[in-house]
Amino acid sequence: MPAARDPAQAGEQETTPRFISVVGAGQMGSGIAQVAAMSGYPVLMHDLDPGQLDRGRTRIRASLDRFIKSGRMDQAAAQAALDRIQTTTRLDEAADHADFIFENVPEILELKQEVFTQLDRIAPPHAVLATNTSQLSPTAIGRDVGRRDRVLAMHWFNPPPIMKLIEVIRALETSDDTVGRSVRLASSMGKDVVICQKDSPGFIVTRLLLAQRAEALRLLDEGIASVADIDRAIELALNHPMGPFKLADQTGLDTALRNMEYLAAEYGGRFRPTATLRNMVQVGRLGRKSGRGFYGYQP
Ligand SMILES: NC(=O)c1ccc[n+]([C@@H]2O[C@H](COP(=O)([O-])OP(=O)(O)OC[C@H]3O[C@@H](n4cnc5c(N)ncnc54)[C@H](O)[C@@H]3O)[C@@H](O)[C@H]2O)c1
Repeated sequence: MPAARDPAQAGEQETTPRFISVVGAGQMGSGIAQVAAMSGYPVLMHDLDPGQLDRGRTRIRASLDRFIKSGRMDQAAAQAALDRIQTTTRLDEAADHADFIFENVPEILELKQEVFTQLDRIAPPHAVLATNTSQLSPTAIGRDVGRRDRVLAMHWFNPPPIMKLIEVIRALETSDDTVGRSVRLASSMGKDVVICQKDSPGFIVTRLLLAQRAEALRLLDEGIASVADIDRAIELALNHPMGPFKLADQTGLDTALRNMEYLAAEYGGRFRPTATLRNMVQVGRLGRKSGRGFYGYQP
């Protein structure tokens, strides 16, 4: 196990964690492990699949190389970050020393509940269990654990080493102390946070994103403006880097449709997907990944 990070040396309060665990080493988990290691934390990265641990490490190495090439990091710092990450297929090994655990297994409620129940048994009593769910309820994910005051969601954005924001979502019984520890940890890793005070579908970011997307789809279906003009209006007048249709093509229109249906079920008509979006998904125009969505793409 690598040496614990010394919060005093980093000029931080004693309550920042000394050991971090990441459960699930896919796209997000490996990115979060990288961010934590780049910030000086020893990290244990766990996955059931050893191949995923290898691929996670390869992704981290490639990302660190890009940091070096762009002059944002030197070789020694990148190597030190890599050395801080250990991997294991055993959950008990990953969690029994951890002060803070980031769960990144697939977006399936029963799976996340099971992982939380196991973590509750293994992790030290003071450890915080944070889920990186995109849209499930952190209250439901932590339903069966004893330490419900130390459960919350920390929703990262992809790719974690680049994206600046973490959305912190309180579960029903999350304590102020847990929120404080999470905010301090995020800040020690160079991230900004927004706090969603109530566990509610779509949290903050997804609700804002889909509200704009729903209105853009209505403008299109009403024949008021073209795809390109709606995107340009948002990019040039509202200063977003990417319009709603370009972004939806990138996310995948099947995912975009599912997300809208999920929020429509909760909040009603204002999030209802339009006929155009449904039809496009029907015929397999799914965006960038299928070569055609609102725009055409070269293979
Ligand atoms: N991909 C994104 O853009 C994004 C953004 C924000 C949040 N999220 C959320 O992050 C979570 C992970 O997403 P991802 O894109 O990294 O998925 P992924 O499929 O890339 O990775 C999931 C990993 O979990 C592992 N896993 C499965 N069951 C496990 C278990 N019981 N114990 C340990 N590991 C297990 C898998 O082997 C896999 O490596 C999901 O909840 C997702 O909704 C994803």
